[in-house]
Formats: sequence, C-alpha cells, structure tokens
Amino acid sequence: MYIDLLKILRCPDCKGELRLKEVRARDGEEIVDAVIDCDCGHEFKVMDGVIYFGSQEQELFNNWSSSYKEMEYEELDREIESKTPEKLKELFNAANKYIVNELNAQRPNIVLDAASGRGMLATYIAEKIDYSPMFILTDLSFEVLKYDRLKLKKINPNIRANFIACDCTNMPLKDNSIDRITSLFGITNMGDVTGEGIKDSYRILKADGKLLNTVFYIDCNTEAAKEIEAAFREQLHMSLFSEILSRDGLDKLHREAGFTKLESATIGEGVGEKSEIDAIPIEGEWFAIAVISGSK
Ligand SMILES: C[S@@+](CC[C@H](N)C(=O)[O-])C[C@H]1O[C@@H](n2cnc3c(N)ncnc32)[C@H](O)[C@@H]1O
Ligand SMILES: [Zn+2]
Repeated sequence: MYIDLLKILRCPDCKGELRLKEVRARDGEEIVDAVIDCDCGHEFKVMDGVIYFGSQEQELFNNWSSSYKEMEYEELDREIESKTPEKLKELFNAANKYIVNELNAQRPNIVLDAASGRGMLATYIAEKIDYSPMFILTDLSFEVLKYDRLKLKKINPNIRANFIACDCTNMPLKDNSIDRITSLFGITNMGDVTGEGIKDSYRILKADGKLLNTVFYIDCNTEAAKEIEAAFREQLHMSLFSEILSRDGLDKLHREAGFTKLESATIGEGVGEKSEIDAIPIEGEWFAIAVISGSK
C-alpha cells in the first residue's frame, strides 16, 4: 500500500479512521509489511504488499488458494486462458478497452477495481493507462491479490497500485471517496450478495463518481437457462439468477442501490460455446457483454 491510501480508508468494523501502527518493511515508497489499526483497537496486517481485512475466499468457486496448491499462478492463468473460447477472449478485451478508453479520456484520480480476481481487467488497465491514478485492486482472496501485485509490477513498474483483500459488500473505504469503480464480471460474481456489492460501490463513489460494471446479459427464459438456474440453486445455493444475468434485473439492482443515471453500452454479442470452466454464457444460447455505467 501507498501512504496516501490511508486518508480514504476506514475500519470495516467500527467505521473509524485507520492509521499505521507499525511499518516493518517497504519496497521503495510502497509499504509491504505493516500493521494498521483504529481507535477501537481493530488491527489489520499488510503482508506481501496486500492489506488483509480478514476476508475468506468463496468456497465453491474462485477458491484461489486451493487452485494455487495445485499449480503456479502463471500456469493457472495459462490453463484458464487456453480453456476460454477465442470469441469470448475478444469480447473481454473489447470490454477492457472500452473501460480504459473511458479512464484515459476522463482521467479520474482514484480508480478502484472491484473483485479483481486474477486481474484480467486490472492488468489491462496497468498496461494501457496513459496517466497515473491512485489504483486500488480488491478481492476476497488475499492469495490472488498477492499474485496480481507481482503481475502488475512486471507490466507497469510505475503504477501506484494498492491491494485490499476485503469483502466488497463492506469495503474498508470512506463514503464518497472514489472517482471510478471498474469491474469485469467481479461484482456479478458475488452471487446472492451482488446487490450489496452494488450498494457499497454507490456508497464509496464521490457525487460525480461513476461505476463501470461489465456484465453478461442472457435470455433467462430459455429451457437451458432454467436448467442452469436450477443447478445454481441446488449446487451453489444461489437464488439470484435473472437479477444478475438480465438487462432488466441488473437495471433494477443498480437503481435499488441508488444509481439514478444508468447507461448500458453493448460491447458485443455471441452464442455460447462449450466451456469446461464457465456455465455462463450457456452453450448454444445468445449472450451479450455490456458495460453498465452508473452515476449517482
Ligand atoms: C471471476 S473473478 C472476476 C474477474 C476479474 N474481475 C478479472 O478482471 O479477472 C470473480 C472474483 O470475485 C471475487 N469475489 C466474489 N465475491 C466477492 C466479494 N463479496 N468481495 C470481493 N470479491 C469477491 C472472487 O474472489 C473472484 O476472485
Ligand atoms: Zn475499528
């Protein structure tokens, strides 16, 4: 973490100010090993450059630490990449490009990527950004952020990126503190708490801030979609489906979170291909990828 991050952090437990209690190691200006605390005595560690707020990884998917027990992070990246259909990779790239173009055009000072995962979007931003915002990556998983930090350093050693392992439904950030929140299927990967993630994004955005939320739209009324919905309910205990995978459902979730000005830019459409790794998009079914822009 960089010291200027402290002024927008708040304790996720008592919502009070956080301060540096002890710094044990730095890498240039970056604090990589430290303890931060609040007046109530809640303490959080900075380890390997990542601030850890005690969040636990999802159990049934995106359980990065168990994947990294089986293979190195670079190998896992290659494996996921090789199993992702080419057309989908093109569309992910196009969505990332749309977001970076927005950032480069508007040059917001503080950019937070929500649920950064393996950093497909964050690494794209690190590579293509043409100015130096304060950049913040977030995820439930400490492990995944640890590797994201190494990746970002390789891609752009000058980027001032902060890494926060936290629950994005209760981010350790002050109200009205962030200029742009970006996400590539991060917020909609929060399952049944997706609405809470959108609400917390709304809370931390400044009055003129903006959320750039990349999502999938599918037709939730087909037989195949209903089967996947039932499987999600039984196997993942997930009850939201059309709410996070349809245009109307997502529009409603963003409005309920408080976003009044909403736009949806379609990045591209296609028909789902067979995939070993993802249930969405559904094989043989229409899908679209869109970036929802939400302003307060
Ligand atoms: C598939 S990844 C998203 C892809 C990623 N945005 C990228 O650019 O590569 C989904 C991520 O959401 C994270 N996640 C799920 N629920 C979360 C929550 N409540 N708070 C923070 N991160 C969450 C998971 O840990 C996982 O890393
Ligand atoms: Zn506290």
